[in-house]
Amino acid sequence: MSKLKWWQTAVFYQIYPRSFADGNGDGIGDFKGITEKLDYLKDLGIDALWLSPHFPSPNWDCGYDISDYVDVAPEYGTLDDFKTFLAESHKRNMRVILDLVLNHSSDEHAWFIESKSSRDNPKADWYVWVDTPPNNWLSCFDGDAWTYAPERDQYYYHYFMKQQPDLNWHNPDVKKAMWDAVRFWLDLGVDGYRLDAIGTIYEDPDLTPHKVPMNLAQLRRLMETAKTAQEKKRVVKYWKDMFKHQWGQPGVHDLMKELRAILDEYDGDRMLVGEDDNIAYQGNGNDELHLVFNFPLMLTERITPSHIRRNQKERLTQLEALPTHGWPCNTLGNHDNSRVHTRYGDKQHDADLARLHAALVLTLKGTPFLYNGEEIGMTDYMLTDISQVKDTMGSWYYHAIVTDLGVPPDEAMQRTAEMTRDRNRTPMQWSNNPNGGFSPAEAQTWLPLNPNYKDGINVKDQQHNPDSLLNYYKHLLRVRKNTPALIEGGYIPLHTTAKDYFAFLRTSEQQAVLVVLNLSEKQLGLDFSRTKELTGHNLGLLFSGAVRSSTDLSPKNLHIGAFEVFIAEVK
Ligand code: GLC
Repeated sequence: MSKLKWWQTAVFYQIYPRSFADGNGDGIGDFKGITEKLDYLKDLGIDALWLSPHFPSPNWDCGYDISDYVDVAPEYGTLDDFKTFLAESHKRNMRVILDLVLNHSSDEHAWFIESKSSRDNPKADWYVWVDTPPNNWLSCFDGDAWTYAPERDQYYYHYFMKQQPDLNWHNPDVKKAMWDAVRFWLDLGVDGYRLDAIGTIYEDPDLTPHKVPMNLAQLRRLMETAKTAQEKKRVVKYWKDMFKHQWGQPGVHDLMKELRAILDEYDGDRMLVGEDDNIAYQGNGNDELHLVFNFPLMLTERITPSHIRRNQKERLTQLEALPTHGWPCNTLGNHDNSRVHTRYGDKQHDADLARLHAALVLTLKGTPFLYNGEEIGMTDYMLTDISQVKDTMGSWYYHAIVTDLGVPPDEAMQRTAEMTRDRNRTPMQWSNNPNGGFSPAEAQTWLPLNPNYKDGINVKDQQHNPDSLLNYYKHLLRVRKNTPALIEGGYIPLHTTAKDYFAFLRTSEQQAVLVVLNLSEKQLGLDFSRTKELTGHNLGLLFSGAVRSSTDLSPKNLHIGAFEVFIAEVK
């Protein structure tokens, strides 16, 4: 596997710092807490960490509104605490990438405060200012995209909340300041960045208005009430049309090339992964981003075999077509989306499905990203009172639908609980002690714990249970690590019309591995003997959810149990 880079072989784990581990007992996660849990992550089998923003922030968008790009939020500790965390991660051979928010800063960043102060200060052009709103563009979080600043008697543009003004990336001084921040952390030794919302960096220079006949709250509401496939399709189209002039504009490729060149000045193969699914941002395979997320895989209500096959075909074909071939990157969960266990469950076989989905991400070709808590089966938690909601996108929505659309408060709260990202950001459940062992019993945690930490959904209980989801992840991660074809091998789909199961081969020069994921409750009897790579061979079991009397199996008559995950080497 010597030809592959560390970010191609690594399994990444996303840490949401506010909710991961509270080291000082104030109810908020911090670096002391994270550092204390590094052994846990190492033992789990994690190779690299992605930290959601840890910078000072007024937290209108839970850290994605940054007021200082080169420091640590006081609630998370000090810069020295960060350095200790980084050194301790590296000591354990775990890489660390940070979140880089380029599109916007916080409105409390010194840059914006200065920019807003007058029309002729040195930073007057660091943000996007206009005399009057030139169009009907919207913010995807809180309604209008243009907000008035009396100091300048002008409006500034923001794609996200009004507390997140868009930086003017046409201004070379902005670039320089941001690239200095990028270097600051690279100089400290971080291994790369996850790039936030790159699609939103530039806007249509013609400022073309959108033509969708409704506002943001109405569209979000329509998203919830759409029932038929046709209605749902219409909502997706409206969403695209509403923001198409504020998204994916030319300019991003050149910017990514510039950023890539900075990373390449450093040793140690620093890397970039973009929060975008557009493979074009991987450039020629070597001159823009190292990875982009395969969001189309996760953007579905149910993970079905045909959905996976279609997705893999499309993504892998596009990646192969890049002049120096691109590398895939798969994930099913993050801090913006419903948790894997909840989202893809069917309420009957959620535990089985969670295991299958973990196996999918860990056996498909590409770098897997896991989201903290999925390894113990954390589920979405529905808040019940608007005063608990910390995700301002959620509270804005609640008030908009109650006030403007007349939705009764109870129903509005239920809808808000379902859409707010708080549902999937509750504190990590470490044990069945009060506060889930995240914080001491007497602390008021920043979001409530999901009470199911008392029912075995916690690290400590699962560590002691050989059949737990946590031990299943650990086992699977170990199998992946010890099976080169699962990391470097090509992908060959098998039985491509099967509706109940997804079967494929991962093949490297030295090894071929068969994976069968039975996404149904049917018992399967499968024959792979006519598959060229399997004809005349036997199978040596590497991993299975079922108890088997023999580990030496024939591909001709393979029995796969309900919801079984089956991984075997071709011998
Ligand atoms: C990205 C982040 C999300 C944030 C937004 C604005 O989509 O993942 O959490 O709210 O950008 O920064």
